[in-house]
Amino acid sequence: MIGNRRRGDENLRKRASTGQVNSVEQRGAASDAQTHRAPSCLIVLAHPRLDRSLINSTLAAEASSLRDVHVADLYDRYPDYQIDVAREQSMLLAHDVIGLQFPMFWYSMPALLKEWFDLVWLHGFAYGGGAPKLAGKTLFCAVTTGGDADSYHPVGRNAYPVEDFLRPVERTAALCGMHWARPHILHDAPRLRGDRLSVAAKGYGPYIAARLEERGVA
Ligand SMILES: Cc1cc2nc3c(=O)[nH]c(=O)nc-3n(C[C@H](O)[C@H](O)[C@H](O)COP(=O)(O)O)c2cc1C
Repeated sequence: MIGNRRRGDENLRKRASTGQVNSVEQRGAASDAQTHRAPSCLIVLAHPRLDRSLINSTLAAEASSLRDVHVADLYDRYPDYQIDVAREQSMLLAHDVIGLQFPMFWYSMPALLKEWFDLVWLHGFAYGGGAPKLAGKTLFCAVTTGGDADSYHPVGRNAYPVEDFLRPVERTAALCGMHWARPHILHDAPRLRGDRLSVAAKGYGPYIAARLEERGVA
């Protein structure tokens, strides 16, 4: 199990940091010329210690095995936080569905993902300036939490549903004219083991496939 996961991580890192990202960039350059293509999904993965991750590494390996889904690991590509803005914008333009996959950290997203938003989603690109370039695309979050489902409830320890902690991203989608899809949420992540982990990970593929189908551009 651990061996499989490590192999999955290595494949994922290889795909995200070399060939896969290159192919995504090539798609970006060619996207204007392509009028009939299958819809594609970019998963922006943000986990500062993917090597120690149980659930996000499993989910990312699952996603990267899907056709027309490209996983880009932010912490692997920008360990120094020096984000290549043009490259990231090109990747966003090349896909119809954008997924943000991350573990919930302090009721929010890991720091590099927030930095990515701040630097890449610029005025004139993501919003404003007359022709926002992300309009019409779908945005979703795939979030894992340490807390169980009962804790994300008005009478639970975390007081609010996870969806409430994602409102800033939901409103960002609205500001940019994007479609906001209901998030993919896995609670109780540290205790997902064995069969529970396999079942949880298997649900991710159909979730992403449904987001692609909704685009209706296949
Ligand atoms: C710095 C930090 C902050 C965290 N904050 C939260 C939180 O606010 N809410 C929560 O439910 N879990 C929180 N967790 C637990 C993580 O969300 C959980 O360990 C993660 O989703 C497990 O996924 P992984 O196996 O891919 O690492 C936090 C964990 C860390 C390390």
